[in-house]
Amino acid sequence: MNIFHTIAELRAWRRSLTGTVGFAPTMGNLHDGHIACLHAAQLGTNHSVVSIFVNPTQFAPTDDFAKYPRTLEDDLKLLTANGCDAVFVPSVDEMYPRSASTKVIAGSMAQGLEGDFRPGHFDGVATVCLKLFQIVEPAVVAFGCKDLQQMRVIQQLINDFNMPIRLEAVPTTREASGLALSSRNRYLTPDAKVQASQLNQGLQDTLRQVIAGTSPASAEAKTTAVLEEHGWDVDYIAVRDAVTFQNITPETTDVAVLGAARLSGVRLIDNISAIRS
Ligand code: PAF
Repeated sequence: MNIFHTIAELRAWRRSLTGTVGFAPTMGNLHDGHIACLHAAQLGTNHSVVSIFVNPTQFAPTDDFAKYPRTLEDDLKLLTANGCDAVFVPSVDEMYPRSASTKVIAGSMAQGLEGDFRPGHFDGVATVCLKLFQIVEPAVVAFGCKDLQQMRVIQQLINDFNMPIRLEAVPTTREASGLALSSRNRYLTPDAKVQASQLNQGLQDTLRQVIAGTSPASAEAKTTAVLEEHGWDVDYIAVRDAVTFQNITPETTDVAVLGAARLSGVRLIDNISAIRS
């Protein structure tokens, strides 16, 4: 597997290739969810690239950018074992030289939900993804459905900037308990990890209630109350049209329930969706 630290090295390799590239951007600390993205990027393309870059511009000053888990050696082993052709591991200076001053303002998909709780986060994500897409020149990019809003923001970026890229939506990888795999799970104590599947159960309950005819507002409130009774600090439980993120109407067929909540100080997000007939 090729390991590139500079844009010039990656570009020189990219120019030497014939055929298409599938790309999975990551911040490292890889787990099976990332590997599912790599496999999706490999499907139907000739070469695969994964980036590992903890992107400072998507962290708020209160978020712990410095403490984000960095496990490069293990990540490289996992990528090699899964047939990745190249990994791009740039430094912060390489991606954001001091002279850089242009940034992307993420579009309407960034409004509400995570956008409310993490102001500026999606601008940072969209900026780094635009830069990475320019560098890697992929035909296919793979993004996990666990970060559903991020996925929609990136699809909007691709559409709005007319990029010839297909976004592959990769289903969330879960533990047997239903807990969505996330780099943040490593901060959960063993007890909290057992309890953490309550978030997914809460989303399932909410969806069941809404499909059965309960109003989204009461289903959201009930789930929030149940989670709070169990010690969760809930940012939101939200029933939305899965495509537009607007409130659902009687005509909405693709219903998503998204949630973000803290358990013992660890912020987890998850979502599920279903087609309503
Ligand atoms: O989902 C992530 O890991 C990050 O937001 C991404 C897409 C790699 C951009 O830094």
